[in-house]
Amino acid sequence: MYETWEELEKSIVGCNKCKLCNGRKNIVFGTGNKNADLMFIGEGPGADEDIQGEPFVGKAGKLMDMAFCGIGIEREEVYIANIVKCRPPQNRNPEEDEAKACMDYLRNQVMLVKPKIIVLLGSVALKNILGEEYGITASRGNWIERKGILYMPTWHPAALLRDDNKKIEFWKDLKEVMKKMEEITK
Ligand code: URA
Ligand code: SF4
Repeated sequence: MYETWEELEKSIVGCNKCKLCNGRKNIVFGTGNKNADLMFIGEGPGADEDIQGEPFVGKAGKLMDMAFCGIGIEREEVYIANIVKCRPPQNRNPEEDEAKACMDYLRNQVMLVKPKIIVLLGSVALKNILGEEYGITASRGNWIERKGILYMPTWHPAALLRDDNKKIEFWKDLKEVMKKMEEITK
């Protein structure tokens, strides 16, 4: 583990620890407030993220931004990262070996940000962070504490594009997160 962002960011340059390095245009490391109390973890870059090198800048990201706006979160206030930093081909889910290979970067990011709350966006984030035994349908909306960090699993923003009910639940989960943030940071 690296003690500084500088060292960590340097360590990922040109990474070829898994096969996703073959198809990527850019490594999407993460963005936002490096001392955030609130962190979001997604799955992996899509086409737009791959081109721009930033997480959640495509369609799903726009939806997330709208939700942020509605509940008063500034994108710059929080830290946003993904399970894998390189785009899986055809936006398929990251495979187990890829997620494993990339996990040390994310662990190191969490260690440096020291968030109080982590929102897990979708099943891939949930299972890779908290364990395969967790299912997103049963877990979403419920707090899970691990090693002093509070986790809130919720729907992946891309799932909202297809289902209005999930939009309502996503909104509800983020409201709950904001409520908890106020409680623990006041
Ligand atoms: N979906 C993700 O999981 N992450 C992104 O950065 C973009 C879309
Ligand atoms: Fe390296 Fe992660 Fe990209 Fe795989 S996905 S090549 S481990 S940065």
